[in-house]
This record gives sequence, C-alpha cells and structure tokens, in this order.
Amino acid sequence: MDDPLRRKLDFKLPYPAKVASDVKGQGNINWFLLQGALIAIRLDDLKIDADEMAPILSKNEFINKILVGDAVSTMKKLPQGCVDIVVTSPPYNLKNSTGNGMKDGRGGKWSNAALMDGYANYNDNMPHDDYVAWQRKCLTEMMRVVSDDGAIFYNHKWRVQAGLLQDRSDIVEGFPVRQIIIWRRKGGFNFNPGYFVPTYEVIYLIAKKGFKLAKGGNSHGDIWEFTQEQKNPHPAPFPVALIDRIITSTNAKTVLDPFMGSGTTAISAKSHNRDYVGIELSEKYVVHAEERIKNYFDEADEISTGQK
Ligand SMILES: C[S@@+](CC[C@H](N)C(=O)[O-])C[C@H]1O[C@@H](n2cnc3c(N)ncnc32)[C@H](O)[C@@H]1O
Repeated sequence: MDDPLRRKLDFKLPYPAKVASDVKGQGNINWFLLQGALIAIRLDDLKIDADEMAPILSKNEFINKILVGDAVSTMKKLPQGCVDIVVTSPPYNLKNSTGNGMKDGRGGKWSNAALMDGYANYNDNMPHDDYVAWQRKCLTEMMRVVSDDGAIFYNHKWRVQAGLLQDRSDIVEGFPVRQIIIWRRKGGFNFNPGYFVPTYEVIYLIAKKGFKLAKGGNSHGDIWEFTQEQKNPHPAPFPVALIDRIITSTNAKTVLDPFMGSGTTAISAKSHNRDYVGIELSEKYVVHAEERIKNYFDEADEISTGQK
C-alpha cells in the first residue's frame, strides 16, 4: 500500500487495513481487507484526495529534475524531509488587484511588463481568500519536505490594497517566520505620478528549529540589493545573484523550488554543487528552463576551457 494512504488509514480506521490488491476499486470506492473481511470504503469518507493516493517518488525520479505539475500535488509525492531548503517565489496574485498598473494596463513591475499577459498556464487572478488558502497549502507541504534543520526562503511582495497594507501575514501566520529580508531592486519600473516607484520585495525566512546559516552568512545583513533580471523571456524571473546569495549562505545540499519558472534556482544550485528539485506547472517554461540550464553550463565550460 502507498505510504500516504497507509498513514491516513492507520489514523482513520480502528483496525489495521490492507488494500485488497486483487479487487479493483471503482471510481472513488476502494476495497480493503479489514480483519479478514473484504469491505468497500469510499475514499471521500476517509477524506483522502487523489493527491494523497499518489505513490511517493524515489530519489532518482526527482533529484536534479524539473517535474511538470502543480506545486501542491507534486510536493505530496516527495518524501518527508527530502530537501534542506526551499527557495521560491510563487505567483503573487497580481491580477487580483484594486487598480494598480497590473490591472489597468499601465505596466507592471518588470521592464517589459510581460506579466500583464499573465503566465503561460496560469492567470494569477484568484479571489484573495482562495489565494491565501492555496499559498498556506503550499507552505504546509514545503514544511513537510524540508529536513528538521532546514528552512524556506519565500519571496513575496507587499502591496497596498483598498488603502490597507497587504503584508501577507495572512499567508505566513502560524509558520515559524524567523526573519524578513528586504530585497531592494536597483531601480524600479512601475512609474506612476501618484506614488513613489516601488523598489522592494520581501523574502520570508521560515526556519525549522535546527536551521543555522553557513559560517559568515549572517554578515550579509537583512537588506539586499540586486538588480532585477532583464534578459530572461520568463515574465517574472529571479536574478541568479539573489539565489546565489541565499544558497551560499546555507549548508543546504538539496534545494527545492516548487515554482521553478525559468530554472534560476536550478542554475544557482548547480553552480554551487548542490542538488535541485524543481516543480513547474507550465510545460513550456520547463522546456525553456532545461534549455537555459544546459546553455548556462555549456557556456561556462567553454569559458573555462578557453573556447570562448
Ligand atoms: C514568479 S514565477 C517564478 C519564477 C522563477 N523564480 C524564475 O526565476 O524563473 C511563478 C511560476 O509559478 C508557476 N506556477 C503557477 N501556478 C503553479 C502551480 N499551481 N504549480 C506550480 N507552478 C505554478 C508559473 O508558471 C510561474 O512560472
């Protein structure tokens, strides 16, 4: 029986149960052997969803790979504690806005305002409460797959909506936030005569008890200045230098990014001899990320062998 189902059943049923492998379930009904008797149980009654039935992947199926799929359901297939840190930037729900440049077409935070067209497979426009619930599910899964001395670096953006600061505390409430790092972009793009051009984002350091920085990592302070990536066709990529700063400030051997986009976290992890695990909804972005990773290291090889 799959591990997640086993856990659920142990919890939900008063007796040890075993999936009756020779009897096929229909729809959401599965047959179980319970104390020698064959019984049918509706998975709905156990509140088991399809994600939790998915078999756990083995290491060679996810290490140094970008898996195409949804962040939450794919993380559910990863074993508990299998990565040391998560470095990620989710979609910010920018299209659900009370009227900034993203909504009315004046432009967004990126130079080419590419995000105004949204992501390839995702419109970035959920009702606020649904968005918060989704992001909390993501953080819950990240906490499960991070090791006991691991941490999550969760990049987000604060904004004023309907006159109030949306500081994302509704998303991170209850998670062990240890620090908030300010990422100050050199320069900004969202020019508007009504307000000062926005130039910062935040990175929540959400850390498990045993997490410690690598020697000297703490000397970077908590306000970091990095120029926004300009030459990447993805609408909202990290600058590689930002992720280099995070990864080299930790002793992490394996880094997960469940919103891998154009593969920046993979490039940085590989550059510093760490393993990566990526998840990305858009197959198109995964193809681009894999090409970008390959080109990046081919070029680095050519430079080191003097061919360039
Ligand atoms: C802010 S971008 C991440 C960019 C990335 N940090 C980079 O450097 O390229 C967010 C990404 O999340 C992806 N995405 C949206 N919904 C998703 C989901 N449910 N599961 C996984 N990825 C998703 C989008 O396609 C987009 O590439």
